[in-house]
Parts: sequence; C-alpha cells; structure tokens
Amino acid sequence: METVRLNNGAEMPLVGFGTYQMTEPGQCRKSVEEALAAGYRLIDTAQNYGTEREVGAAAAGSGIRREELFITSKVWFRNHREGECRASVLRSLERLGLDYIDLMLIHWPFGDVYAAWRDLEGLYREGLLRAIGVSNFSPDRLVDLINYNEVPPAVDQVETHLYCQQRTAHEWMEKYGVAHQAYAPLGQSRINDMFALPAVRAAAQAHGKTPAQVALRFLVQRGISVIPKSVHPARIRENIDILDFRLTEAEMEALRGADNAAPMIGTATDPKRVESAKNWTTREL
Ligand SMILES: NC(=O)c1ccc[n+]([C@@H]2O[C@H](COP(=O)([O-])OP(=O)(O)OC[C@H]3O[C@@H](n4cnc5c(N)ncnc54)[C@H](OP(=O)(O)O)[C@@H]3O)[C@@H](O)[C@H]2O)c1
Repeated sequence: METVRLNNGAEMPLVGFGTYQMTEPGQCRKSVEEALAAGYRLIDTAQNYGTEREVGAAAAGSGIRREELFITSKVWFRNHREGECRASVLRSLERLGLDYIDLMLIHWPFGDVYAAWRDLEGLYREGLLRAIGVSNFSPDRLVDLINYNEVPPAVDQVETHLYCQQRTAHEWMEKYGVAHQAYAPLGQSRINDMFALPAVRAAAQAHGKTPAQVALRFLVQRGISVIPKSVHPARIRENIDILDFRLTEAEMEALRGADNAAPMIGTATDPKRVESAKNWTTREL
C-alpha cells in the first residue's frame, strides 16, 4: 500500500476504510474484517460513530501485527474541555483495546478547541497518540491553530469529492505541511448522480474501471488520501483497487470540471450549521 508521509515522519496509508453509519450490531466488525482481508490497513472511526469497540475487535482478531495497522479516531466536541479531552481519549483507547492510536483528530472545530488540542499535544508527547490532527477545519481555523500551539496538526480530514474538490483548502494544507484526507470521497448521498457524470463514465470505460474507482483515483492522484466506506464485500475490494491505473491529464481536467465547491456535510463555517450542532446526538463519549 502506498503511504503519505506525515509532518512528524509517520507513514499513513493512502487508502483507508471508513466506518461511519454502520449502525447494525456486528456490521462494523464484519465490514472491517472484510476490509483487512482485502488489504486495507487504515481504519477510520470516531467516538461519535459508536464503532470503536467493533473496530478494535476486528483488528485484534485479524492476526495482523499492530505496527502494520493505522487506526484513526476522533474526539467529539462535547469533550472539548481541558482534562475531559484527555479522559475521553483514554476511554477511546480502552474501547479500541489499544495501547496507542495512530492518529487522533478533533472531529469538529466547535467549543474549546484549544483546550482539547493542548490535551492531545500532551497525549502525543506521551506516545499514546502517534499523530494528532483535525477534521472539518477550514484554512483560517487551521492556520490559527498552527500559529498558537506547539504541535502542528498532521492531517486535516475534510469532505472532498468530485463535487467539492477543496482546491483552496488543499493549497493551504500544502503550504503548512498538513496532509489532506478526503472524507465522503464517493459523495455519500450524491453518489448516484456523481457516477452518471459523462467525465466519470468516459474515464471508467477507458480504463476498464468502475465509476467509484475513477472518483477515488481522481483524489489519490492529487495526493489526497481517501477513506471510502462500504458494508458490501465486493465494493470494499473495488474501492481499494485503485492504485494500478493512472488518469490522463485530459481526464483529470474533465473531472476537475465537476467541482461546484459546495460541501454537503463539512460546512463548519455556516452559522446555521454551528447553531444546529448544539442539538446533534452523541453516541459515545
Ligand atoms: N470527519 C468527519 O466529519 C466525517 C464525516 C463523514 C464521514 N467521515 C469518514 O469518512 C468515511 C467515508 O465517508 P462516508 O461513509 O460518509 O461516505 P462515502 O464513503 O463517500 O460513501 C459511502 C456510501 O457509498 C456507498 N458505496 C461505497 N462503495 C461503493 C461502490 N464501490 N459503488 C457504489 N456505492 C458504493 C456505500 O454504500 P454501502 O455501504 O451500502 O456499500 C455508502 O452508501 C466515513 O465512513 C467516515 O469514516 C468523516
């Protein structure tokens, strides 16, 4: 598996596996087992997905050596208070059954982010977290966090797909040495119309690949890591099989034309979204 070198020297797999919206008991464990068997080594979970226990169980049962795995989790914003963030990470470690987490992210830039970051910096220095980063941070929040803290975030995980290519955010991340990771790389609920785009269909036909593989390849070819989610074994295998072909510059240009720079989920700069976050449900603290 190709990797991305993070700003602290850690190597992160370019293609990982997402576990959001795996709500039936056992579904996450089974899907992660399929993913590990298919060759994924990066598994993305979060306190608020309620999947940390099943991710940990699948990893433990896989027989894969710990150092080959790359487990990402995320702190939920209700834990953004000094000391509480730390305590919540210790609970994540327990649920995952791990001695360390490879990458811990601040899930959303709400509440006392700076207190949470100081806790993460402490856990990073102790070695309980191998890398720390953020998610849903717009470039202004990212630069501010870097300017007024000691450990720069290794990753910013933001909604990125053909309809929301995040070109400006990508430039800021590159400038500050932060790795860009795409969540919802298949467009989540807009997947069907994305797969019908003429540029996607033409590239899929030209390379003997599926529309999903083209959508993911477009991102990794820009140096962006992807974490597609599926509960179907055939799709799980399909989504990792994207490193053996290369889109031409003309195909990349045609795919760039699909961008309307509009996130569906990661709109942390919209006051209505920030307002509504106060009522978001919390699954696991
Ligand atoms: N940091 C954040 O705030 C944040 C937010 C959202 C997501 N994430 C992370 O990013 C991961 C990926 O994002 P996501 O799950 O929201 O969306 P996604 O990966 O873009 O899309 C998942 C959807 O695509 C379907 N699918 C998967 N592979 C397919 C294929 N080859 N062909 C056709 N359909 C396919 C899945 O259905 P089936 O499962 O039925 O196959 C599911 O409905 C999440 O699981 C989570 O780990 C992070």
